[in-house]
Amino acid sequence: MDATVCHATRTATGRCDWTRTRSRGGYFRNAVYRHWDPYEAIPAELLAQDRERLIDSDWTDEEFRGFRASIAKFGAGEEAVTEDLAPLAIALDDIDDGMFVSSQIYEEAKHAVFFDRYWREVIDPVAEARGIERLPPTDEEFFNDAYVQLFDRTEAAMHRLLEDGENTVHNRVVAYCHYHLAVESVLAQTAYYGYQAQYSDTGPEFDQFEDGTRTELDGLIEGITRIRSDEGRHVGFGMRKVQEHIEAGDVDEVIIRETLQELLPHIAGIVDDGQYDTDFDSTPLVEYASEKLSRRIEIITSRDAELPPRRGAGPDQGRRGGRCRLSRSRGPRDGLVAGDVPTADVGLAGRRALQQ
Ligand SMILES: [Fe+2]
Ligand SMILES: [Fe+2]
Repeated sequence: MDATVCHATRTATGRCDWTRTRSRGGYFRNAVYRHWDPYEAIPAELLAQDRERLIDSDWTDEEFRGFRASIAKFGAGEEAVTEDLAPLAIALDDIDDGMFVSSQIYEEAKHAVFFDRYWREVIDPVAEARGIERLPPTDEEFFNDAYVQLFDRTEAAMHRLLEDGENTVHNRVVAYCHYHLAVESVLAQTAYYGYQAQYSDTGPEFDQFEDGTRTELDGLIEGITRIRSDEGRHVGFGMRKVQEHIEAGDVDEVIIRETLQELLPHIAGIVDDGQYDTDFDSTPLVEYASEKLSRRIEIITSRDAELPPRRGAGPDQGRRGGRCRLSRSRGPRDGLVAGDVPTADVGLAGRRALQQ
């Protein structure tokens, strides 16, 4: 065990010393306060509405296949991160961190449940109504090389922490970069952004949807909005951990830049798949991913950056000094994460990587 592991919140018997715990819950308390039920919070009626709208839509079969593949990627991603987070829960010694990662594993499982529901209640029935072969969400048709590469690398970075002598600060920071920053922050946030633009009138305006052809999928957006709120907390935790290690001088910030920029081509390859013959222009999404990655690097390496509060956001918490972006916002469904401020560019190499 390395010298930077925090023992300050444990007694001599190994139990948590609550009188010395730095934040008495921190992000964990935020997770408890914002709990939601994936079986009940998104009504079956709303998913049925999505199903009917997709059956009645004028989408081509290729457009539906492309949409189905994106749902499959989301669902598989949630399952993968549920499994891959366990090594971090074992590697971390601080009780606050352990409690939070436990809640995160639970939340990733909830996200997987939502996408499983969406597959069974929307995707399969629509495929059947259209006369398209039903496929399991694990079918290899849905996963291109970029996707497989990114998640294989993330799995390796997480499971490395369980190997003899490998639970080091450096390796934990690399794990956060893969999991919390590349997958949860850049890739997932880009996908949410794209869904809201394509399937909600509350999302960003894309030129390609200005002619009123958007099919609104309220059930999907309701689920995504709740998931996004959880993910904002996950990303905030990961960013804070990385930033703490940089400020303590445990690691050089170049590790963050190198790791994220190495993963950029894989993220771009997922966003700009091109497997299905549709008119969708992925340029705005590729640009969004590039900007999101730039923000993450800038925020983490800036001493003045604003991160979500360690104290979490119960009904009476997190309102001091404007530090709490999660609690002062539009309520439990806002989905804001640390770093949503303008920052420097990712650089020419990063842009080239994204455009390949
Ligand atoms: Fe998730
Ligand atoms: Fe997450």
